[in-house]
Amino acid sequence: MNDNTNVSTSYNIALIGFGGVNRALANIIATDPEAFYHEMGFNLRIIAVSDMFLGSVYSPEGIDMALLIGLPAAQGACANLPNGKATADNEDIIKNSNADIVVEATVTNSVTGQPATSHCRWALSSGKHVSTTNKGPLAFAEKELIDLALNNNVGFEYEGVVMSGTPVLRFADKLLKGSNINRFAGIVNGTANYVLGLVEQGQSFADAITSAQQQGYAEADPSADIEGKDVMLKVIVLANRLWNANLTQDNVQCEGITGLTETMVKEAVAEGCHWKLIGKASKQDDGSIVASVSPEKLPIEHPLAGIGGAVNAITFTSGMLGDVTVSGPGAGRIETAYAILSDIIAIHQRKEG
Ligand code: HSE
Repeated sequence: MNDNTNVSTSYNIALIGFGGVNRALANIIATDPEAFYHEMGFNLRIIAVSDMFLGSVYSPEGIDMALLIGLPAAQGACANLPNGKATADNEDIIKNSNADIVVEATVTNSVTGQPATSHCRWALSSGKHVSTTNKGPLAFAEKELIDLALNNNVGFEYEGVVMSGTPVLRFADKLLKGSNINRFAGIVNGTANYVLGLVEQGQSFADAITSAQQQGYAEADPSADIEGKDVMLKVIVLANRLWNANLTQDNVQCEGITGLTETMVKEAVAEGCHWKLIGKASKQDDGSIVASVSPEKLPIEHPLAGIGGAVNAITFTSGMLGDVTVSGPGAGRIETAYAILSDIIAIHQRKEG
């Protein structure tokens, strides 16, 4: 892909955003490069980092990984790296660096979907593959970005957007292909599920949300988690991927867990039930898609009632198989970094044909 001698097995990576997820990815890459190559069949070389808080660094031959891993979380810290600057340089790095793959993991404004949407546009337009964990670009420009990737013959991958490291998009799209999926329903917000679990154990909602933030599960603004918007976006992404549904935020009825009280949550347990925030969508006979997000009080024997902590689970209902449930980690820094790695593997496999 790049100008190295090892042209077929090395990818240059630009990390846009260097918070918990991209730091975890850098750690995975740096831990044991030889074992990594042996397992994956390719090398990854981080050539650029740009972050609104930390600043930026671009080293076309690769950033010193020991220095990058040890970078303190201090404003402008990148200025202390060779070729580093105290300010971010997202646009120039995305458009003009020698990156093969842009990994987009910035904080998105949920009203505008920016700056992540522009990051993806710039990268795809300049012929670079994109892996993003960001819901913003999918919520605001999904079709445009998919078309842009197709037209530029590059990959646009976003496995981490739904269920983080648990590869549910590829599972549904590739492994259940042809099974005639007509419905899915699931727990797809780790924060809300974790919070409900702690409230069941006696914590207040406020303390439980703080704990979810400390664990790295919650969004920068956790209202997206507890008001259901995060689930709504994941339902849209999954429904559009499965059925080419053209769903938008206007089509999905959405209610979070803010209407639940600590008493309601504890009373449900006493009744042998659990409140869960459920996102679902189904294909109607006329081909239209109906989707919604709302808390549901599930009896203990329901397959989703026992899903605890930040674990996510989705049940797919198909004509051929009936119900198939996938469960696994739905949030977390390392888990989401793994989703990026799975995107990079998909980009590699696409190249390998
Ligand atoms: N805040 C999200 C969650 C992170 O709790 O599920 C993963 O999208």
